[in-house]
Amino acid sequence: MCGIAGVVLTTGQVGPVLYDSLKRLEYRGYDSVGEATIIDGRILVKKDKGKIDEVERELRISGLDGVVGIGHTRWATHGAPSQENAHPHIDCKGTVAVVHNGIIENFMQLKQDLEAAGHTFKSRTDTEVAAHLVEENLKQGIGLVEAVRLAAKKLTGAYALAFISTVEPDKLVCVRKESPLVIGAGTDANYLASDIPAFLPRTKEAILLDDDEMAVLTASSIRLIKVETGEEERRKSFTVEWSVETATKGGFPHFMLKEIHEQPRSVRDALRTHPIYLDLMASTLDRAKRIFLLACGTSYHACLAATYAFANLAKVEVTPVVASEFIDGYGALVDQDTVVLTVSQSGETADTLTAVRGAKDRGATILAVTNVMGSTLTRVSDVYVGQNSGPEMGVAATKTFTAQVSVLIKIAVALAQRRKTISEKELQVLENGFDRLPEWVSMTVSNQGERVRRIVERYSDSLSFCFLGRGISVATALEGRLKLLELSYLPAIAYPAGESKHGFISVVEEGYPVIFVAPDDEVYSRIVGNVMEMKARHAQVISLVGEEDGEVARLSDETITIPTGIPSSLTPIVYILPLQLFAYYLAVRKGYDPDFPRNLAKSVTVH
Ligand code: F6R
Repeated sequence: MCGIAGVVLTTGQVGPVLYDSLKRLEYRGYDSVGEATIIDGRILVKKDKGKIDEVERELRISGLDGVVGIGHTRWATHGAPSQENAHPHIDCKGTVAVVHNGIIENFMQLKQDLEAAGHTFKSRTDTEVAAHLVEENLKQGIGLVEAVRLAAKKLTGAYALAFISTVEPDKLVCVRKESPLVIGAGTDANYLASDIPAFLPRTKEAILLDDDEMAVLTASSIRLIKVETGEEERRKSFTVEWSVETATKGGFPHFMLKEIHEQPRSVRDALRTHPIYLDLMASTLDRAKRIFLLACGTSYHACLAATYAFANLAKVEVTPVVASEFIDGYGALVDQDTVVLTVSQSGETADTLTAVRGAKDRGATILAVTNVMGSTLTRVSDVYVGQNSGPEMGVAATKTFTAQVSVLIKIAVALAQRRKTISEKELQVLENGFDRLPEWVSMTVSNQGERVRRIVERYSDSLSFCFLGRGISVATALEGRLKLLELSYLPAIAYPAGESKHGFISVVEEGYPVIFVAPDDEVYSRIVGNVMEMKARHAQVISLVGEEDGEVARLSDETITIPTGIPSSLTPIVYILPLQLFAYYLAVRKGYDPDFPRNLAKSVTVH
């Protein structure tokens, strides 16, 4: 997730306007920043890595002259944060500048083709291909708008792209597919941005671009065009009623709720991890004699879920370990035949980094999944992949958990393919599952939110909760418990459901709320007995079940339903959603701030 902005003015200076817009988009990314404008027929770019204010101090981006300009605040996906990789990017001759939010999936192929045609690339980003594609089209003598339209037709993936060009210096041209893009209609200026807050202090009139649409902005006109046909479209602007603060949270009262609702997109972005990286990870894992999965907190729960997938799909034994226990518990087993797959949203967790360094000292190969390119973890690992979640503002991890599980399951599938441990049919089911995941996530978040809120109302006086699951759903239960603990400050228990009779069951008395995670998977029939055990002790059973569920639903006091047909390995990505909502609504109900739970930090950099 990055933030893009653009402005075209009648008179004045774009620098202060863009700087202000980028500050308002900083929540979308903050590892690098840059702006481009056109002065005396030439493109001028100012950009560097660092937060907006750091780059401002160094380059004074707010002082940029010119009446047309684009800006970008970055959250790295392709290429680490650096001056070269910061946006805007320009073509070979400096006639086109572009900023981008999204992931261009076919950039490697396009880059090869463009290099073969003589283009020289300066960055390692996927974005730069867009500038060279437009340059290539302009060479054919067509106008800027058509050059952008034809370039967009060659791109696959997700993108919101904005261009300026010396060829038509009075225009901003932008195009969108899957990544957000909004136009702001001013009186003597027009704007574009990834999100409304960017221009809200200047205009409240907005037009949302649809997928596969482009817009051409001058200071006095806005044209919308269909990418496929080049036909013009008409759409009226609407008036934004939100305050800047509400708009920054996408209209939600808290970042956490916004981030829960962002998951259809963040899961889709996580699944876009390039097969080359997945194969690299899989081939390293395939050579290992011992594999550890290493992480803390929510990231550890993602590892736990992945452990089931590595065993069942790739038939590989992996040991998930809480990072703070790794060296004491397993250090003696680590050698050059060991691979440690580390998962850390921030890439800066002290316990994780210490364990990784300890493993590295003993000769292990380090693989990493992280949300922060350029973090310490990316520097100490041998191979890393990004989870592409964009910044997470809520302290409690939500969208980063579902992204981590998505990436880890993809790695497990890549390993299974390499080891030939899954059949074509199983693979087909999983591929189909990956395709449908964003839709299942979307349906669950939109359809179950109100139901979860009402259940929370009924149980808001409970002093403790228990979460039970079997198989891969143990990970979901543990993560549901963690969300509840950290946000509502209540003691809560999570167990493998089969283990609950070996101790926990003595806690259960009339009215005790027990939440069952019970997807319609291969362990379903065994969880029915566990539900009966709890009902026999008069527990209040709240169950998360598939839409067509019969038995568990019948035994339960409350049910939350999830779409059916989700492959078992992917269930944590969908079944965790009502539990995130549960923790959120309980915290709000208790008057706590879900975005900033007490005693917790987003990145734990102490031991
Ligand atoms: C829970 C949470 C923490 C983190 C843990 C690891 O909501 O956010 O438990 O998951 O501190 O953080 P990362 O993934 O940054 O290493």
